[in-house]
Amino acid sequence: MNPTTEQKTAISETVRKHKEFLFPAVATYYQEPVALVKGEGEYVWDDAGTRYLDCFGGVLTVSVGHANPKINAAVVNQVNTIQHASALYANKPQSDLAEKLAEITPGKLKKSFFSNSGTEANDTAITAAKLATGRHEIVVLRHSYSGRSATALSSVGHSTWRPLPSQVAGIVHARAPYCYRCPFHLKPESCGGACAEDVKDVIETATTGEIAAFMAEPILGVGGFIVPPDGYFERVEEITRKHGGLFIADEVQTGWGRTGDKWFGIEHSNVKPDIITSAKGMGNGVPIGWTIATAEVADKFPGLTFATFGGNPVSTAAALAVVKLIEEEDLKTNARAVGNYLREKFDELKEKYPIIGDVRGRGLMQALELVKSRETKEPAPEVVLKVFEETKRQGVLIGKGGLYGNVIRTGMMLNSTKDNVDELVAALDKSFAEI
Ligand SMILES: Cc1ncc(COP(=O)(O)O)c(C=O)c1O
Repeated sequence: MNPTTEQKTAISETVRKHKEFLFPAVATYYQEPVALVKGEGEYVWDDAGTRYLDCFGGVLTVSVGHANPKINAAVVNQVNTIQHASALYANKPQSDLAEKLAEITPGKLKKSFFSNSGTEANDTAITAAKLATGRHEIVVLRHSYSGRSATALSSVGHSTWRPLPSQVAGIVHARAPYCYRCPFHLKPESCGGACAEDVKDVIETATTGEIAAFMAEPILGVGGFIVPPDGYFERVEEITRKHGGLFIADEVQTGWGRTGDKWFGIEHSNVKPDIITSAKGMGNGVPIGWTIATAEVADKFPGLTFATFGGNPVSTAAALAVVKLIEEEDLKTNARAVGNYLREKFDELKEKYPIIGDVRGRGLMQALELVKSRETKEPAPEVVLKVFEETKRQGVLIGKGGLYGNVIRTGMMLNSTKDNVDELVAALDKSFAEI
């Protein structure tokens, strides 16, 4: 469809108003920002009528396709039945979802608290861990992202996402398990798990020695899909428990089958988290945050707690429909199969283009780290920007991340096909060739 003059005006109007009336910190991708007006399955349309293959799903949030008819039906049905109840009353979608989540989560995780975002989910987890242990210190990872509240911001491991210094005391950052850029300049085959041992070092030197929890993303999402080496989380769990702490897995990006075969990213390790948090893909775009804990932890949360929209019937009906759909359509398996195919194609691109320094990820969470030279590993964020413009021209939307902004991230939908992958890879191949 060719854009009409009126639609072209609409583009500039939407973007102009965005620039004039929103905080400038609400930054958009692309030299000429895209205003999206429609989504269907794997595709989105801008207000000039241009169609794009959406390979980032609004940051791994549209998990089962835009305007998925089954999810939409659940939402519409719920809106027409009862939209809001508040936690002062029980509601069926919330109760049914909580029951289902207790069934699909690993170990003894049982009791849920629903909120509105990943930030709130992590805040709830940290508060619960402090209350359950009677301790106050939390170990997190450098290169991590946790959200925007005072607590979450204090946990973030990226200067770019920290407009203020730590506002909450007692949160300390261990080195990231970032093998491609090992913080200890060691090789994975002979490092002796130095990054896991750093958690011990940080606890012994930067805390009272007794912590409330260790919290990490199973794959560091905003950090550029950093995948910790095998055995990392097992050793960290051992250290954490020795120092009295609980294990919190932040599954905001890695949950819901995204990493293939398993519901949660942490299930690829032999670790039993005491708390899992999530948001994003859980609602396929409907706002929801979620914290689940063992009964032992949840039961120690005293007094009253309340989030007006937490457990909202519409959000929880959507999330329940997402979980059922992933199950019915076996999307965890699809994420593994299509994700492996994508990984093969990314590895082939790496063979072809020296600018690609590293390929990493799991399932349908795959990234390319771009460097000026494979020897120096100097980050190449300016090339990422060029690839962005070029792939956009070819009708494909991708994501980026990493501390240096030099990582191309993809979070294709869990029901993506190999044809979708071919479309993405062809656009990337052409872009790298042009650049
Ligand atoms: C791993 C992780 N945790 C927490 C958050 C915060 O979630 P929200 O933006 O919904 O508050 C994000 C957001 O990107 C995230 O990636």
